[in-house]
Parts: sequence; C-alpha cells; structure tokens
Amino acid sequence: MTGSQLWDDVDDYFISQLAPDDEALQAALRENEAAGLPDIAVTAAQAKFLQLLAQLQGARTVLEIGTLGGYSTIWLARALPEDGRLVSLEYSARHAEVAVRNIARAGLDRVAEVRVGPALESLPKLADENPPPFDLVFIDADKANNAHYVEWALKLTRAGSVIVIDNVVRGGRVADPDSTDPDVLGTRAAIDLIATHPRLSGTAVQTVGRKGYDGFALARVLA
Ligand code: SAH
Ligand code: DHB
Ligand code: MG
Repeated sequence: MTGSQLWDDVDDYFISQLAPDDEALQAALRENEAAGLPDIAVTAAQAKFLQLLAQLQGARTVLEIGTLGGYSTIWLARALPEDGRLVSLEYSARHAEVAVRNIARAGLDRVAEVRVGPALESLPKLADENPPPFDLVFIDADKANNAHYVEWALKLTRAGSVIVIDNVVRGGRVADPDSTDPDVLGTRAAIDLIATHPRLSGTAVQTVGRKGYDGFALARVLA
C-alpha cells in the first residue's frame, strides 16, 4: 500500500527539519535509481532513527543484512567511530556493486564492507571468522528468512546488543494468522522468536510515511 498525501507531507516536514540529506546521500539515491534498483531503501527519517539507535547504543560494530544500494549502510556507518566496522550482506552482485560505489563516495569504505551472496551462506562464513560481537544488527533482506536472521544475530552479538527488523507490518499483513505468504510467515516466526526466546526482549512499532504503512521490530539481547 502506498501512503496518503498527509503521511508524505508529514514525512517531508520531519525529514527536512530533522534528517536532511547531503551530497553523498543524494548521490546514493540517484545512483540506485539510475541502476534500476527498487525504490525500497528506508526513508531519511527512518535512517536517522537507526543512526540514533546505533549512537545511543554506543555501537562500534554493526551487521546489516540486506544492503540494496547502501543508503541505510551510509547512515549506520556514520554512527560508528573511525575504527568501527560495519559488515553488510547482499544477495545481488549488481546491488552490491552500486552500494560499494555509494559507500566509497561517502568516504566510508574503510568502515563499511559489503559481502555478496545469500546471507544464509555469508553468515556462517562470518561466524567462522570469530568477529567481535556486533553491537547492532539491522535485518532488512528477504523477509521469509527473518527468523533465521534473528537466530544468526543471536550467535553474533552479546548481552546488550540490539536487533532491528525492518518491514514487519507490510500494510498490516503481519496480523493475518492464516497467511501463507512466505514473507509474512518469516516475519511472524521472527516475532514469535522474539516473544519466546529467553535471551530476547522486544517489541514492534507501526509506522506510516513515504514508504507506506509498515513498522520496525526492536529486540535487546539479554545475558
Ligand atoms: N537496507 C537497504 C534496503 C535493503 S532492500 C536500505 O534501507 O537502504 C533488501 C535487499 O535484500 C535487496 O537488495 C535484496 O537483493 C537483498 N536480499 C534479498 N534476499 C537476500 C538474501 N537471501 N541474502 C542477502 N540479501 C538479500
Ligand atoms: C521491500 C523490501 C524492503 O526491505 C523494504 O523496506 C520495502 C519493500 C520489498 O521486498 O518489497
Ligand atoms: Mg526494508
């Protein structure tokens, strides 16, 4: 569902006041469009929200699942210290190529790295490297695998880490217990995991705006 004019107007107002873009972010969106990537990056207001979460968290390391053209990656990488590290996993080599250029143009290529391949293949490889725990994980890829991504996030984080999942509402379809849509099933499985896992405490919040009616889930990793 696309949003109402009112949702767009309010988003434009908040974004112009609170989350203005700059050359690198404008260029990233321009390049995404020029390369024919889908127009599904988070909005600037959502990206700033993620950036603030990373800063509140004092994050030094971020794991992102689903890079697209690196728009959210740039906002998140800007929350990190100079010696911070962001690893972003992207299935499509074509998307990743655009992202790598966008990240370099933003001057973040020493902080943010894109790894190409299905995330469920990249994640075990990443785990084999025994990286320091990630302070924040942003899950924004194929929704059917959302619960698997939460499981991997649990392996790659520490007590106090934060997990964010994008697009958990999708126009409200998440509330349908009879859905057979793999995306809905994957997201419902992730919500179920957050609800029942002894190491997770979480919630989900609905949003409206330029990207329609959707929402984020947020979970904190416990002991
Ligand atoms: N986080 C981005 C948007 C990501 S869109 C932003 O807000 O700017 C979702 C991305 O996930 C797409 O680029 C898609 O190619 C990627 N994707 C889909 N399936 C995937 C998989 N199995 N593993 C990794 N990435 C995947
Ligand atoms: C889709 C994916 C996203 O990550 C998003 O933010 C919006 C839409 C999609 O696959 O349609
Ligand atoms: Mg998304």
